[in-house]
Amino acid sequence: MIYSKNGACWCGSKKKYKHCHYEFDQKLIQMKMQGYEVPPKSIIRNQKDIQILRESAKINTAVLDAVAKKICEGMSTQEIDDIVTEVTHAHHAKCAPYRYEGYPKSVCTSINEVVCHGIPDSKRILKSGDIVNVDVSTIFKGYFSDASRMFMIGEVSDNARKLVEVTRQALQAGLDALKPWGTLGDIGHAIQQVAESNGYNVVRVFGGHGVGKEFHEEPFVAHVGRPNTGMVTAPGMTFTIEPMINEGTYDVEIDPEDGWTVTTKDKKLSAQWEVMVLVTEDGYEILTQ
Ligand code: MF3
Ligand code: CO
Repeated sequence: MIYSKNGACWCGSKKKYKHCHYEFDQKLIQMKMQGYEVPPKSIIRNQKDIQILRESAKINTAVLDAVAKKICEGMSTQEIDDIVTEVTHAHHAKCAPYRYEGYPKSVCTSINEVVCHGIPDSKRILKSGDIVNVDVSTIFKGYFSDASRMFMIGEVSDNARKLVEVTRQALQAGLDALKPWGTLGDIGHAIQQVAESNGYNVVRVFGGHGVGKEFHEEPFVAHVGRPNTGMVTAPGMTFTIEPMINEGTYDVEIDPEDGWTVTTKDKKLSAQWEVMVLVTEDGYEILTQ
């Protein structure tokens, strides 16, 4: 498609194309000709999108902060769900997981060998030694946000603590590798390096994802990869980075009973941290902090 330089920009900014995404498009065309996979326009956010995504993400962070304050030994994962629902609604927002593709609860609580999508349950009481991922996702004014943190309950084994810490470091390495006009492979590679050099394995079948007016949009953000491969990371893209890192095999299985709970195949521990980022002209902004 050819855009008139003096016409309105395709991003919806109401600015003239030549003053908005013209140079951006030239850069992408150049990279595409060099063989790079480039993002579709549909996942490049304009200032309005970004402003509401920021607000949505702020609420998401407030929810996680509320969980962080209260989470403790003896609490059920249903009580975490209750906190998430209450705080989200108090901010006039909605819990994105609730009824998402039939998901029955408002948050995911994934303990020990559970990799992701653990379902809150009044019978599952947090006990000393558990490591638990609380994955919160919010819809505000039609815009999604998504982030998760690990919590260590009571006295945690050295092994478990190390896995949680290395997973955090792996996420940080992914962020350090994120730059405008870089690639998703740069991020995946950095994460994989940290995990594997510590003797761990990176889950392959789940990854990060674009976030915007939908929960899960393009691109799929693999947490493994090779530098300078995969989709170009262009300013205006918003996506999650959420490595799931296992003590043992990266293979996982889904509980056939509930159709959701993902565990490690060997039942060894798994940890995950998740942030949602905006790629900017000169770096990135973590929206969920
Ligand atoms: N929050 C998860 C993610 O990071 C998705 C959960 S889907 C649900 O992508 F239905 F399980 F909530
Ligand atoms: Co996510």
